[in-house]
Amino acid sequence: MEVVIAPGAELARLAADAIERVVRGRAADGGRAVLGIATGSSPLAVYDELARRHAEEGLSFAGVRAFMLDEYVGLPADHPERYRNVVEKEFASRVDIDPADVHGPDGLAADIPAACAAYEAAIADAGGVDVQILGVGTDGHIAFNEPGSSLASRTRIKTLTRQTREDNARFFGGDVSQVPTHCLTQGLATIMSARHVVLLASGKHKAEAVHQLAEGAVSAMWPGTVLQHHPHATVLVDEAAASRLQLASYYRETFAAKPGWQGI
Ligand code: GLP
Repeated sequence: MEVVIAPGAELARLAADAIERVVRGRAADGGRAVLGIATGSSPLAVYDELARRHAEEGLSFAGVRAFMLDEYVGLPADHPERYRNVVEKEFASRVDIDPADVHGPDGLAADIPAACAAYEAAIADAGGVDVQILGVGTDGHIAFNEPGSSLASRTRIKTLTRQTREDNARFFGGDVSQVPTHCLTQGLATIMSARHVVLLASGKHKAEAVHQLAEGAVSAMWPGTVLQHHPHATVLVDEAAASRLQLASYYRETFAAKPGWQGI
């Protein structure tokens, strides 16, 4: 696992660089990149940077396929906080990706287990995810894999913790009762199947989750710790989110000495 400590704008550039490399690389080979996209505040600066590169530098997402991490169960199709609508607003509508190539778990499905299995099959049919963007919850969840999630889990329904619903109430007018109680989420094993995982975290409220994720014992109690088993996981954090890292000096020295061509 590589940990990079840098100001937020630089973190967004590094994540955008990783995405641009795979998008251009696949296109040059006549293929189609597969992106794993996340909601929450953490990736927003990355989407801003990708939209800028699309507008100003000709970075095209034509042919790119995107798979969302998770979705609330039961939010009406036109609800602004339905993750599909959030992804449309924050990312898809700002670049030239075909809306039909943006996929997410169906939180309105009548047959939820079938919808989850279909989602896993769609990711596999696309050839798997090249770069997966991730955030982390204050309780250490990634996607919506709450503490206690199986490290071998696949896309399924989960119950949200009180903590997560309180954290996300800010998107629902501060009213926790408006936050759905259930979600569909890629499992930890689904996320682990991505070829490169790029996790972003900022702010002091993420410091403990980041410390556990990078330096704690691998445990279902801190689901993000499963990424310690990933062969190519990059953790991009600002100073505040890095404030509890025991090996912060080592991460800084390592990144400062890294050859520029290597990327993340
Ligand atoms: C939600 C999402 C996660 C996200 C987390 C952190 O629970 N399902 O994918 O990582 O929030 O969100 P934020 O980046 O806003 O702190």
